[in-house]
Amino acid sequence: MSQYNDGQEFEESGPLLIAHMEKSGISSMDIKKLKEAGFYTIESIAYAPKKHLLAIKGISETKADKLLAEAAKLVNLGFTTAMEVHTRRQDIVTITTGSKDLDKALGGGIETGSITEIFGEFRTGKSQLCHMLSVTCQLPIDAGGGQGKCMYIDTEGTFRPTRILAVSQRYGMDNESTLDNIAYARAYNTDHQSSLLLQAAAMMSESRFAILIVDSAMALYRTDYSGRGELAARQTHLAQFLRQLQRLADEFGIAVVITNQVVAQVDGGASMFNPDPKKPAGGNIIAHASCTRLYLRKGRGENRICKIYDSPSLPENECTFSITEDGISDAVE
Ligand SMILES: Nc1ncnc2c1ncn2[C@@H]1O[C@H](COP(=O)(O)OP(=O)(O)OP(=O)(O)O)[C@@H](O)[C@H]1O
Ligand SMILES: [Mg+2]
Repeated sequence: MSQYNDGQEFEESGPLLIAHMEKSGISSMDIKKLKEAGFYTIESIAYAPKKHLLAIKGISETKADKLLAEAAKLVNLGFTTAMEVHTRRQDIVTITTGSKDLDKALGGGIETGSITEIFGEFRTGKSQLCHMLSVTCQLPIDAGGGQGKCMYIDTEGTFRPTRILAVSQRYGMDNESTLDNIAYARAYNTDHQSSLLLQAAAMMSESRFAILIVDSAMALYRTDYSGRGELAARQTHLAQFLRQLQRLADEFGIAVVITNQVVAQVDGGASMFNPDPKKPAGGNIIAHASCTRLYLRKGRGENRICKIYDSPSLPENECTFSITEDGISDAVE
């Protein structure tokens, strides 16, 4: 499904693999260089600013112009009609969260092709929701899945395969293949976290992925950068990371889910990075990059309340779900 198909189907099919550019007169040598620099699809070329191409060793001004011109012939970069956008949006695949109420509030589930941020205090179920989605993304599209693999970047060491198995059993899936379909990486610092996305692009050009999860996107930024003096550097690095995530969502049509812990304020004093406790750390940068934001907070017992913010098409609304032994479910009374 992710492979480029020749001919008519090319618009509906997944990403256009860069190897196809040989037909447009780009040498296999240059294609190799582009891949090494993280460009695996024709979309990635078409969406790139020219200076990114020029930064690659062996890509001259003339070559960069040719690459951009050829990519523009294959990827639509111009205007289209609202009707076409409407038709395309109706086909957007959503991934079930396991809770009917939450899915309904989300307009079907977690949307593919964009970034969803899950933020909230500790133990509010951010990681549980991530575990859940890493399994449901594998379900067939008509069963609420994304019919693809999951890529899971764990920055806190809280990934637990036993939680995956519980969800896999709930859906009657084959345990072994469910685990095999999750590509897992532990990130140890913010540079590592970013470099994993290069590998991600390579893997996504080889097989069909439905979701990329980063749990948590912010944690390493908090420890790698400290104090006000490093704030600007931190925000620049974070903005690049988020832009890279958006690029993967655009290029491969995957859902991107990131989590972000919000620390409630006890002393009432303004925190260093986060003057408003209701706003997640990372500030405006993260809010601008994520399309839909889910704010989780504790409810009674295992119930959790989810408030949906900032969605381009959903009203702000709230719903309740619960965390159970076999994953996320509807709220229990
Ligand atoms: N096997 C299980 N069965 C039922 N509930 C569970 C199970 N495992 C974890 N939970 C519940 O999930 C909650 C923790 O959720 P989670 O780890 O997703 O929090 P989080 O939002 O990621 O927190 P943090 O910010 O600390 O990472 C706890 O309330 C815990 O009781
Ligand atoms: Mg967590």
